[in-house]
Amino acid sequence: MDFLKEAQDITNWTVNIRRDLHMHPEHGNKEFFTSEYICNVLRSLGLEPVRYLETAVIADLHGALPGPMVAFRADMDALPIQEETGLPYASKIPGMMHACGHDMHVASALAAAKILVSHKDELPGTVRFLFQPDEEMDGGAKRMVEAGCLDGVNQVFGAHVRSDIPAGYAGVRYGVSYAASNPFKITIHGKSAHGAEPQDGADAIMAGAQIVTALQTIVSRRMTPIDPAVITVGSFHAGSQCNIIADKAVLEGTMRTFGEENRHKLVSLMENMVQNIAAAMGVAAETDITWGYPGVVNDHSSTELVQRSAEELLGADHVKVYAEPLVTTEDFGYFLQNAPGSFYHIGVGKSAPMHSGGFMPDEAALTFASALHAKVLWSALGLK
Ligand code: NI
Repeated sequence: MDFLKEAQDITNWTVNIRRDLHMHPEHGNKEFFTSEYICNVLRSLGLEPVRYLETAVIADLHGALPGPMVAFRADMDALPIQEETGLPYASKIPGMMHACGHDMHVASALAAAKILVSHKDELPGTVRFLFQPDEEMDGGAKRMVEAGCLDGVNQVFGAHVRSDIPAGYAGVRYGVSYAASNPFKITIHGKSAHGAEPQDGADAIMAGAQIVTALQTIVSRRMTPIDPAVITVGSFHAGSQCNIIADKAVLEGTMRTFGEENRHKLVSLMENMVQNIAAAMGVAAETDITWGYPGVVNDHSSTELVQRSAEELLGADHVKVYAEPLVTTEDFGYFLQNAPGSFYHIGVGKSAPMHSGGFMPDEAALTFASALHAKVLWSALGLK
């Protein structure tokens, strides 16, 4: 099966879809144009898309033969960024842009669907295409999973464009691949007093300062140096005037960990440290932890399948096996908590960074991505 040739044959079709989407970027959970557009394309392929939640779309491609169900996810949302590329197909929506390449994800997933539809009679099982809202902010993946989109799915795959590798390259990573994130807010309640009479108050600023410093010792002294972790306090607000002991301090920050065990360990060490320092300093403290995106943990055999598929398609020297995980986050982790699978990277070459107004992925990547997604799903159904 020459998926690369099949993807090349429909390159114009795929590029046009990508450009249409690029001109109409939409905020997370507001992907109304995008989801309608996707439904129309899927219907033109003979599939029966189902609207899911508000803007998600699911379409099942039933092969002619019995077999497993494998899924592929493409995220659809854009970012509130002003496009600065000057391209003829630049965003038509002021202040919104597909600056994370999700337009590339949708177009290549639709192209993979088109390729696999043409092989429907040979497919043993079902391929489910998942078009997901709101990756950037609140985890559309979580809501899709909770609504049952993975029921009956045996393996799930997804991909993201990356500018660290050129078009024609793919990247895979075994095991822990993206960090988990836990934003936090610590509120310290002290007692105000005259700045000259500290013994009558409980200084929230002093307690907060001790907490900021001590939190950094968790990573350096309590966690193993083998497994990286990050605690950052990004804001510290307290006090009203130079001669008043502050009665309140609010610290906000974020944590990054790799793997669920370390995530729970870091959170518990932090809560413990905050409570104990607060007690020692004579103040009260509340720690409010947000359970942000879980890490992405790729299944070993699913990742082997992706690597093998990519090597056969692109050549072994065009497949990067990442030695380290990424510190960024990605809500595909919610899918992987519910079904084995793998999340891989599609090279789009260097341009301005992702999440910037100049981001300009190499469209040549669309052909490679479409072919690779089709081949991964084909192989996941057990076909050679
Ligand atoms: Ni993204």
